[in-house]
Amino acid sequence: MVTWRLAPGSDPSRPSPYISPRIGRGRITSRPSPYISPRIGRGRIIRNRKVLTDSYLPPHLPGRDFQITTFDEYLEPLLYDEQPFDLAFTGKTGTGKTAVARHVLVRKMEELAGAPVKFLYLNCSQANTAYRVMYHLNRAFGILVPPSGYPFDVLFNNFKSVFEGGRLRVVLVLDELDLLVKRDGGRLLYGLTRLNGDLIERSSSLTIVGIANTPDFLERLEERTRSSFKPKRIYFPPYGAGELLDILRERAKLGLVEGTWSEEALSHIAAAVARESGDARRAIDLLRLAAELAEKDGSSARLEVRHAEAALDYVDEGEIEIVIRTLPFHHRLVLQAAAELLHRGDPRPGTGAVYSRYSALARRWQMRPLTLRRVSGILRELESQGVISLEMSYGGARGNTKVVTGMALRPDRMLAKLSKLGVR
Ligand SMILES: Nc1ncnc2c1ncn2[C@@H]1O[C@H](COP(=O)(O)OP(=O)(O)O)[C@@H](O)[C@H]1O
Ligand SMILES: [Mg+2]
Repeated sequence: MVTWRLAPGSDPSRPSPYISPRIGRGRITSRPSPYISPRIGRGRIIRNRKVLTDSYLPPHLPGRDFQITTFDEYLEPLLYDEQPFDLAFTGKTGTGKTAVARHVLVRKMEELAGAPVKFLYLNCSQANTAYRVMYHLNRAFGILVPPSGYPFDVLFNNFKSVFEGGRLRVVLVLDELDLLVKRDGGRLLYGLTRLNGDLIERSSSLTIVGIANTPDFLERLEERTRSSFKPKRIYFPPYGAGELLDILRERAKLGLVEGTWSEEALSHIAAAVARESGDARRAIDLLRLAAELAEKDGSSARLEVRHAEAALDYVDEGEIEIVIRTLPFHHRLVLQAAAELLHRGDPRPGTGAVYSRYSALARRWQMRPLTLRRVSGILRELESQGVISLEMSYGGARGNTKVVTGMALRPDRMLAKLSKLGVR
């Protein structure tokens, strides 16, 4: 039943997250993007908007030499027809995990063209159930099965027979794997990793490269999965200011009209993002926004530091205001307490500090403060609404605590909004 064709020229009416055959190709188009409004579209500054977006894969990835070389070396056994180890890429969002995977895969596919090796890339944010993953894996081998409602075991066994049938080394990249594991508890991952053990034919193998944004994602797998999926790890640290500057320089060269940006503007963005997160995606978004602001600025023909500053300050305040307006009173007080602490210069106020400030505010309103536990819950709710950001702080003087690391508006702006709503 299994044939060795590549995935059939995929049904255009049904976009598939299985992107192996066209991975990273043809990303630069000269076609004008539909998003360019006629006014700014003449491209006084922006020459190729596509380059300034997320899906563009640049030819170089500054700051990721180590990860690229390591990944490349781990795949080396394929050259000798041996099975590579399973791998896990971990690191926060925007640290180049997807970019490095695509970068190396494109090159390996060329290098190993003609060998009994197949690379598959699947993004679990789209294929987010075990069934959907299996559906795409079946399609990748030309096995057409319905997109839902078929017995899962049939799909799984189809895939298994691919390996039993003959010589093939498959490298399967599962991006955003944490999303799938969250839903199915690692069952599919367990099944896939067990597949090798069941194979009699040693010239077939399945290597899994799992990519996750959650740092402790491996530790959180269920016992059974953890004992069968033991990948080598490649860690992606947040980018520093120098690396972000290199990334932005390259994007500016490819995406902006020559001579229309100042080096200081790029440094300004790079330094700010390095302080805040080290997220390359955020840095690139800011570059695009700053360039747009510069194009709208009649008094300037160049992207300058002040446009970078404006981009950093740019938030849709209207939207945040709507959220704050609908917050219950104690939520507002908790938010005010956190904003005051950040505003006074504490960069990471902990739950305890927020609680004591909040209690004082509540008493000023002659209200009985809620419990610490409840306030901790309120902080989580504020985080899930995108009003504040939280991080766990491990092993400090008070053991593990949550700390507030930022908010949707600059703390002084937040306090101003709250006072307009009559909190103070
Ligand atoms: N080293 C780098 N050089 C150039 N661009 C990068 C680099 N790292 C990340 N990017 C870009 O930043 C954005 C986010 O990177 P991505 O690989 O998607 O991060 P992750 O998968 O870790 O969340 C993408 O547009 C990517 O092209
Ligand atoms: Mg990614």
